[in-house]
Amino acid sequence: MANATHHRPKTTVVLAMSADGKITDVQHSPPEFGSSADYAHLECQVAAADGILFGAATLRAGETAMRVVTPALIAARLERGQPEQPAQIVCTRSGHLDPTLRFFQQAVPHWLVTTSTGAESWQGQPHFQQIFTDETPNHTIDWLKTLQAMTPLGIEKLAVLGGGQIVAALLADDLVDELHLTVCPLLLGGASTPTPVAGQGWLQQDAPWLELLSVKQIENEVFLHYRRRR
Ligand SMILES: NC(=O)c1ccc[n+]([C@@H]2O[C@H](COP(=O)([O-])OP(=O)(O)OC[C@H]3O[C@@H](n4cnc5c(N)ncnc54)[C@H](OP(=O)(O)O)[C@@H]3O)[C@@H](O)[C@H]2O)c1
Repeated sequence: MANATHHRPKTTVVLAMSADGKITDVQHSPPEFGSSADYAHLECQVAAADGILFGAATLRAGETAMRVVTPALIAARLERGQPEQPAQIVCTRSGHLDPTLRFFQQAVPHWLVTTSTGAESWQGQPHFQQIFTDETPNHTIDWLKTLQAMTPLGIEKLAVLGGGQIVAALLADDLVDELHLTVCPLLLGGASTPTPVAGQGWLQQDAPWLELLSVKQIENEVFLHYRRRR
């Protein structure tokens, strides 16, 4: 049974992909292939969360975080006792982020998950209000400890907006609870184009399996909602 020390946020991955399973194009451009229905679905997931986690490559590509902008969604957050915007949490091992990115001008809480080396240039600076540096003995990020450290800071629900490297890191430590995948009607190809899950991969017998909770079609897109089967 989980005790208070081991309590971690519930994690939900939210991604849009092409019909051939790519989350971006060969130039790693920010994804613009989702419909307005997919954008509304993404904003609802962001609005439901206390924190939004994403990889440094996703931030470098898009330069900004996904804010809640719809007044009704903001009002619902305030009614639930949540702050107007969820914490926007970027992860990078290197800490190499451009401090002039538009992200840092956005009116959102800015949090950082990194290594002790990656944190060096950000400690004592105004860019991040929280910096997590929980490391394994191999100096990689200790994801379980990092997530557990977020709970006392009000993060009960964490939406993971990609990319594939971050999703793979969380799955490797069995820290993904649910996934929302939107299948969009285009093909992007490319042998090394990012997919929802990067990393080293699994053999079939070791793969994480999912339970399909719902399927919804809106025009040419399919909205899949899965739960991690344990
Ligand atoms: N379609 C969609 O819904 C969607 C959603 C999100 C992103 N995308 C696209 O996907 C692409 C980015 O995906 P990606 O898989 O290449 O990259 P990513 O997961 O966004 O970020 C990778 C970066 O995260 C850091 N990182 C990697 N593994 C880590 C770990 N275990 N712990 C902590 N930090 C770690 C590293 O940063 P450092 O190198 O700084 O150490 C790495 O370069 C972009 O083109 C983006 O536009 C699409």
